[in-house]
Amino acid sequence: MSMKTLFIGQNAIHLKAVDSTNSYASELLRQNRLVEGTIIYSFEQQNGRGQRGTVWESEPNKNATLSLVLHPTFLQTDKQFLLTKIASLAIADLMSETLNFPIKTHDIKIKWPNDIYVGNKKIAGILIENTLRENILQSTIIGVGLNINQKIFNPAINATSLSMLTNKEFDLMEIIKRFCEFIEARYLQLKTNKLESINTAYLKHLYRLGEWSQYISNEKKIEGKIIGTSASGRLQMKLESGVIKEFDLKEIRFV
Ligand code: BTN
Repeated sequence: MSMKTLFIGQNAIHLKAVDSTNSYASELLRQNRLVEGTIIYSFEQQNGRGQRGTVWESEPNKNATLSLVLHPTFLQTDKQFLLTKIASLAIADLMSETLNFPIKTHDIKIKWPNDIYVGNKKIAGILIENTLRENILQSTIIGVGLNINQKIFNPAINATSLSMLTNKEFDLMEIIKRFCEFIEARYLQLKTNKLESINTAYLKHLYRLGEWSQYISNEKKIEGKIIGTSASGRLQMKLESGVIKEFDLKEIRFV
């Protein structure tokens, strides 16, 4: 596969079918060190894993499911949320280019922490699995599921795809290549410490930023306004009382 990148996707492992590209990558990493930028991709993932123990469903040959291996040893563990940010941004960049050319027709959003939304529907999901060594990141597996040509989804998951939004068919390999280019650019921003660009872009895409909306926390409905995220990745929200509170993933649900 020819890639226009420096290192991301230069080593690419294609699997005809696999249970989970993340699990496969993790198994390979256990056996030996994988060169930075290795991608493992398949168009038939049979037991894809989502966040919080959910299942990631993907119809065979319709979507891209891939895992990218990086060795961000320059990052301390308390900065690991930056990986979530760059992965989300790379997909947002990819979707913006694909859906908003030649004219802007769609709003691409990142629903905290890392679901990619177009309007009120999810078009991509990310599952990041880090290996830590003392206080640095030894390796990370960035697993990405991109909904591309699939047209029918389980209604319970509120999904959309590039095809549903445009009525076109996309070349899965081209999308993967473009994703590699975008994530390489974002990873190089991170590596060269362009945190301002990363943080600004993340906030620009953050779903419901500055909007009063309803959430569920501790089984209770609350009204809040997202104002940002903390360095550790917690969601910062202004409550009706005026108090500012931070939530982690288990403490808050969007309604
Ligand atoms: C989510 O939104 O819940 C995260 C979904 C992540 C899915 C991708 S598909 C490729 C990689 N391999 C997996 O088993 N999961 C991730």
